[in-house]
Amino acid sequence: MEQPTPRTSAVVPWSLLLLCLVSGALQARAQPNSNGFISIDCGGPTGYVDHTTGLSYTTDAGFIDADAGNNHNISVEYITPSTPKSSYSVRSFPSETRNCYTLSSLVSGFKYLIRGEFLYGNYDDLNTLPIFDLYIGVNFWTKVNILEAGTAVYTEAIMVVPNGSLQVCLMKTSSGTPFISGLDLRPLKNKLYPLANETQALVLLYRFNFGPTDSHDIIRYPLDPYDRIWFPFIVHATDWTDMSTDMNVNADVDQLFQPPEAVMQTAITPRNVSNNIEFRLNLQSFPYNLGMGYIYTLYFCELDDLSSSKAVREYYIYKNGVLDYSKAYTPTYLSDGYFYSTGPFQADQSIVISLDATAESTLPPIINAIELFAVIATTTLGTDEQDGATIHLHELKIVIIVHARCLKLSLVSY
Ligand SMILES: *[C@@H]1O[C@H](CO)[C@@H](O)[C@H](O)[C@H]1NC(C)=O
Ligand SMILES: *[C@@H]1O[C@H](CO)[C@@H](O)[C@H](O)[C@H]1NC(C)=O
Ligand SMILES: *[C@@H]1O[C@H](CO)[C@@H](O)[C@H](O)[C@H]1NC(C)=O
Ligand SMILES: *[C@@H]1O[C@H](CO)[C@@H](O)[C@H](O)[C@H]1NC(C)=O
Repeated sequence: MEQPTPRTSAVVPWSLLLLCLVSGALQARAQPNSNGFISIDCGGPTGYVDHTTGLSYTTDAGFIDADAGNNHNISVEYITPSTPKSSYSVRSFPSETRNCYTLSSLVSGFKYLIRGEFLYGNYDDLNTLPIFDLYIGVNFWTKVNILEAGTAVYTEAIMVVPNGSLQVCLMKTSSGTPFISGLDLRPLKNKLYPLANETQALVLLYRFNFGPTDSHDIIRYPLDPYDRIWFPFIVHATDWTDMSTDMNVNADVDQLFQPPEAVMQTAITPRNVSNNIEFRLNLQSFPYNLGMGYIYTLYFCELDDLSSSKAVREYYIYKNGVLDYSKAYTPTYLSDGYFYSTGPFQADQSIVISLDATAESTLPPIINAIELFAVIATTTLGTDEQDGATIHLHELKIVIIVHARCLKLSLVSY
């Protein structure tokens, strides 16, 4: 497939900081649950039920040596009404080089989402942004690079756990004191994210929901039963139409990704019917050379009822200028749809994904959400003879997910 003709027009400016800043009201609201979630508020004095998600948070006391590190509250100037309570406090580790949290009672061979949260908030009154390393067990996970005192950095990985317990370790480098605000573990159905398996894990680089007009409109638990965090990607009304529906979107229970309905109820489309959609996913902030490549998932749902009109919406999906799906794609009215990479692909500085309307299409493409992951090999450790069964143990090599760097969304005319 040849490179599509280079086309540019309005490049929509977008502030990455808005998406990183946890300044918005979390929209979720619900009961505490017992789904096997572990929600740890590091450095906090007591457990509590978070009023925005309804999730029960515990202190980190049972997960780390009592004498490891110091507890601090962040500076009040970084607390807004919508700052998650788990970010109010941190545990910091000024003295020992390596400090570990141990999550136990996991089920070996099951799939989990693990997420670290880091909001510096000038907790030490030093106004010095630290850089440090994260490990899973003895294996390098990622470098946590705090770029702004008031910006929460999230790291997330989806993995099949090799063991009933998992250690997350903060490792001091020469650039300041490691700290952590929160640590979450969420069990996933094993069929979800099929490319996360015993030999490879997925490290989240981007997850965006299109269509919300309010940058505070973050979707997570309970709207997402797996508590993935879907940050809104805000577009400019001059170039884009925000689409939304209050109608139910049919979810396929056998779906491999199971996006929350609230994510599928919104989408964006170019305002000018002659325009297409192009994403440029910048990889430069990530240690991408450590991985096996990348995968992405695109979520689509038609939100306009086209049944009584002659309108046609169909488009091709290109990745770095090459057709990634041999057929034209038509999103289904009020029904979950998705397109995903069936195997990891290589990329250098960036990944360009284009949705190009076919010649027959009378409407421009739409998109509801996108996820991009780095695929990381997990290394076999050996075997365990417990219960007479042979269980393969693997060490995980997982790199980062710092949320939201330079995703550029463009309109392209044809
Ligand atoms: C942080 O603030 C809470 C609530 O005001 C308080 O109970 C706790 O002792 C403070 N922690 C530290 C380390 O100062
Ligand atoms: C697996 O669990 C055992 C204890 O149950 C522990 O000694 C070992 O280090 C763990 N392995 C990994 C890779 O975490
Ligand atoms: C994991 O998925 C990859 C395909 O991306 C496959 O090659 C590998 O064999 C799978 N591993 C297991 C243990 O199923
Ligand atoms: C829509 O896009 C086409 C192609 O770029 C351009 O020629 C046309 O002027 C645009 N229409 C409007 C209303 O902006």
